[in-house]
Amino acid sequence: MAARTLLTAGITGVGMSFPEKRLTNADLEKMVDTNDEWIVERTGISERRIAEKGVGSSFHGAKAAEAAMEHARIKPDDVDLIIVATVTPDMAFPATACLIQEMIGASNAWGYDLEGACSGFLFALQAARAQVMAGLANRVLVVGSEVMSSILDWTDRNTCILFGDGAGAVVVEAVPESRVGIIDAINRIDGMGAKYLNMKAGGSVMPASVETVEQKLHTVYQAGRDVYKFAVKGMANVTKEIVDKHNFTARDVDLFVPHQANIRIIEAAQRRVGLEDSQVVITIDKFGNTTAGSIPSALAVAHQDGRLKEGSLVVLCAFGAGFTWGSCIMRWTAP
Ligand code: COA
Repeated sequence: MAARTLLTAGITGVGMSFPEKRLTNADLEKMVDTNDEWIVERTGISERRIAEKGVGSSFHGAKAAEAAMEHARIKPDDVDLIIVATVTPDMAFPATACLIQEMIGASNAWGYDLEGACSGFLFALQAARAQVMAGLANRVLVVGSEVMSSILDWTDRNTCILFGDGAGAVVVEAVPESRVGIIDAINRIDGMGAKYLNMKAGGSVMPASVETVEQKLHTVYQAGRDVYKFAVKGMANVTKEIVDKHNFTARDVDLFVPHQANIRIIEAAQRRVGLEDSQVVITIDKFGNTTAGSIPSALAVAHQDGRLKEGSLVVLCAFGAGFTWGSCIMRWTAP
């Protein structure tokens, strides 16, 4: 039997959505024992956005998806698959993908949520790419959306200063082979990292109880210094690996769009590949770490700033809880 030819997948639209409310470092100084200088120097964050109480990840996820569809010039009915990367779904079930499907009126779509923490968007992008390449889906919405503020301990200065709320989305569809599209992705997980970054309660091992609430186990736990070391190594290595694998050099890269966890982690990855500041997209100063929302929203910011052009060589990378990490390399194909 003749092997079926695989199609070429590319990103054809990007969008983002953030809550209006800003929480500055000065605001945090009034909440915990911290200061603007420490936060900026150690993380690169000046402010982050915080969703209104009761607003779930579906809200900004749907808005980002609508913006991405408009950019790709497709209608909700054209979407046949919605993959939502999130660690803060509206509810344990149903999937946030179902809620977004209804909000945007994608009446022909199926979909699901994917939990890869800060690497969630990269994992979802690879899943979408596979569906499109196999010809099983024509147009896939990949959404990364978080309301991190809902799982933070606002009395813990080690974690509450780091994260923000927001969403980004892309449309993935088949593009002519000549436009290249997504070239390759490298994705990895290692469960030994689970102990360093997690939220212990609310799952099947430790369901919600008075004790779990009293002990603040429904919030992010992070051994920051350990995670930092793994993240620097993981992100720098996997970025270098994908660039080298395809015989590109630093000069060939038009835009590096890393997960926005900490400016020092980004700079380490940048140095490893030998990239100039002008080649790197930074949004952490304004939005903090939005977990699965960070890469797609950074792509949307780069598009808005006119930094993405047809054929631009774009490198993405991420590291997150799990541990999870990965990179992706593509030629830009959005209109
Ligand atoms: N304000 C002021 N001081 C703070 C503080 C804050 N918000 N948070 C911690 N400190 C203090 C610590 O208590 C510690 O004080 P001590 O020396 O008296 O014990 C000191 O600052 C240094 O803490 P440390 O944790 O070593 O700082 P750091 O340089 O490692 O920076 C992080 C902390 C969290 C910014 C950094 O470890 C990090 O970015 N880790 C990875 C985070 C990440 O990427 N997570 C998600 C993965 S996707």
